[in-house]
Amino acid sequence: MRIQPAELQAWADHRRAVLDRLEPGQAMLLFGAHHHLRNGDAEYRYRQVSDLLYVSGWEDPEVAVLLRPDGDRRFQMWVQPKDPEREVWTGVREGTEGAVERYGADHASPWGQLEAELGEQLLGVHTLYYAAARDPQQDALVMRAIAGVRRKAERELFVPVPSAFVDPGRVLHELRLSKTEHELSLLREAARITSQAHVAAMSAAKDGVFEYELEALIDYRFRTLGGNGPGYTSIVGGGAGACILHYITNREPLRAGDLVLIDAGCEYRNYTADVTRTFPVDGTFTAAQRELYQLVLDVEVACIESVRPGLCFSSLHELAVRLLTEGMVRLGLLEGEVDQLIEDKDYRRYYMHGTSHWLGMDVHDVGAYVGEGESRRLQPGMVFTVEPGLYVPPDDERAPERFRGMGVRIEDDILVTQDGYEVLTAGCPKTIEDVEAACRG
Ligand code: GLY
Ligand code: MN
Ligand code: MN
Repeated sequence: MRIQPAELQAWADHRRAVLDRLEPGQAMLLFGAHHHLRNGDAEYRYRQVSDLLYVSGWEDPEVAVLLRPDGDRRFQMWVQPKDPEREVWTGVREGTEGAVERYGADHASPWGQLEAELGEQLLGVHTLYYAAARDPQQDALVMRAIAGVRRKAERELFVPVPSAFVDPGRVLHELRLSKTEHELSLLREAARITSQAHVAAMSAAKDGVFEYELEALIDYRFRTLGGNGPGYTSIVGGGAGACILHYITNREPLRAGDLVLIDAGCEYRNYTADVTRTFPVDGTFTAAQRELYQLVLDVEVACIESVRPGLCFSSLHELAVRLLTEGMVRLGLLEGEVDQLIEDKDYRRYYMHGTSHWLGMDVHDVGAYVGEGESRRLQPGMVFTVEPGLYVPPDDERAPERFRGMGVRIEDDILVTQDGYEVLTAGCPKTIEDVEAACRG
C-alpha cells in the first residue's frame, strides 16, 4: 500500500516540472523532516516535508534530494541505507537500491555521506535553490560542503560553486498551487472521507457525549475509510468552546441545547481536506442558533458562488466581511453604518479570522497570496477553503443575550474550474434541514 504506480508517475511529473524551470548552472536541494520527540523517548509519528514529498514521494526520515537540470544526475538522493539491525526496530527501509529502482533516482547514496559528497555535486552550480536560514545545522552542513570544494573549483576547475541562494518555494510553491488531475483525485478522496466522518459525528452527538469521543469517532472513520488520519489536529468545540478558534483540548461534555463546532479534515495519501461543520448537540437548532447559522451559511454560499477564474483572492474575504457585517447589523450584534463598521474593523469583534487559504498537501498550503503588489487572481486548478464564521463570547454584554456563547463556522473546499468552481466537500450536509436530518442519523 505504500507506493502505487500512479503516484510514481505523479512524482516524476512534478520533478520534471521543477527541472524544466531550472536553468543549467542552477540546482535545488531539499531536506526531509526531522523526527520530533513528544516526551521522554516517545516520538511523534513521522510526516515528511511536503516539498520533498512532492518531488520524490519519499516518506522516510534522513533524506536529501538534489535536482540538477544538467549532467546525468538530474535526480539524486541521500537516504537511510539498508541496515538489518535498525530495521528490526523501525521497519523495512527502501535503502539506496529502493531509491534508484523504485523511486527513480539517477543516483542514491547513504545519508551519512551527504556532507562528504554534496560539495562535489554542486560543482558548476552558481545558484542553489535551498531554504536557507531555517535550520542552522542544515545551513552549516551545506556551507561546509561548499567550502570543502570552493578552492579546487576556483583554482583548478574554473567552475562556480553556489554563491546565490533562492528559496525553493519560488518554483515549487507555484507548482504546488496548481493541482494536477492526480492531485485532485487525492483531494476528492480526502473530501469524501472527511464528509462521511462529519456525518458520523452529527449522528453520534448527544447530551453527555464528550468532545473527545467525537474526535475519536472522526479519527476512526478517517482511518477505516482509507485515510492517513487527520491532516491537522481536529477541533471539537461544544457551546462556548466553539468561540476559541484553535480549541484542541476537546475534553468537555456536550450539552443539549448547545451547538458543537467540528473542524476536521482527513489526510489521504498526503493531501488533506479541511472542513468545518456546526450542528446542534440534540439535533434541532433553536431559533437563535438558526438565525446565526443561516447568516453564516448564506455568506459562505455567496462567497463560493462568486468563485470564477480571474477573481481576486482577496475579494472572497472582502465579500465575506461585507455580508457578515450587514448580517450582524440586522441581527443586532453591531450597530452603525456598514461601511463605517468595515472601515473601523468593528466586525472583528465577532469575525476575527481570514475567509480562505490554499489547500493541498498542507492544510494551510503553500503559494503566494499576493504578487506584484496585488492580490492573486484565481486560476483553474487552484484549491482553497471558504470558511466564514461568527463567534460571540459568552460574557459579551454588548451582544444580544440569545447569541452569547455561540460560535458558528462553515468551511468547504473549493476547486477553481474553467468556468467556475466545484465544491469538493459538497457531500457534507450544511443546510439546516440536511444537518438536522444527519443528526437524526
Ligand atoms: N483547520 C484550520 C483552518 O481551518 O484553517
Ligand atoms: Mn481552513
Ligand atoms: Mn478548518
